[in-house]
Amino acid sequence: MEKRRKAPILFLEETASTNLAIRRLAEQGAQDGSVLWAARQTAGRGRLGRSFSSPEGGLYYSMLLRQSDDPARDLQLTPAAAVAAARALERVCAVRCGIKWPNDLVCGGRKLCGILCESFIAQAGRFVVIGIGLNVNTADFPPELREIAVSVRQLTGKLTPLPALAETLTEELDAAVAAARSGDSALLEDYRARCVTVGREVLLLRDGESREAFALGVNEDYSLRVRLPDGGTEDIRFGEVSLRNAE
Ligand code: BTN
Repeated sequence: MEKRRKAPILFLEETASTNLAIRRLAEQGAQDGSVLWAARQTAGRGRLGRSFSSPEGGLYYSMLLRQSDDPARDLQLTPAAAVAAARALERVCAVRCGIKWPNDLVCGGRKLCGILCESFIAQAGRFVVIGIGLNVNTADFPPELREIAVSVRQLTGKLTPLPALAETLTEELDAAVAAARSGDSALLEDYRARCVTVGREVLLLRDGESREAFALGVNEDYSLRVRLPDGGTEDIRFGEVSLRNAE
């Protein structure tokens, strides 16, 4: 049996961003492992400086962790969070989703969940926040998101109790963080099994440029190995990779 976690799971009806709110708590001495989730965000933050639409119906979740002594291991917290979120959705909602490299959860080509990890330094030390936004009970999306986003409710026709999902997500995240930090290969295998990017034609988007490539596999450090049109290979660590010929 897993031992009971000591750090709290806190809830707010509304906040600007749970990543930002938990950072404030860290500055006031919040414990390693503290979780804060909200029913709505008014200024949800996305990757690459984008905003993240956060209406009622979603689960907006952040976990605060002290950075480990091994920065390379902490880079694996983002893929670990993707695996944890996928496992939680499977357990609570019976939804099986894929991972679009590096860390979007997708179903039928549409996004179900986004993840943003942010590091910062407070008086009490160095921290990382794992932020997860899940489309859960959303009935419909605004026209600009309709083609690219999907919710659990749209997939299953059912409403999910958000507190139960937050609790299971915390269990899965605690386990996945421990696995990432101990270099447990089962985590990597699960990530690879769920990754829908491998074996696909992709577009590598970086600094306003896009290049065509073919995704060959996920390396041990979770970088994406791609084959370029000239036959050479490259390992992609950052930036954005979109799937070509997405259905
Ligand atoms: C992305 O897909 O671009 C990442 C989105 C991450 C959204 C989550 S919601 C909870 C946490 N708080 C935020 O402001 N962002 C993350």
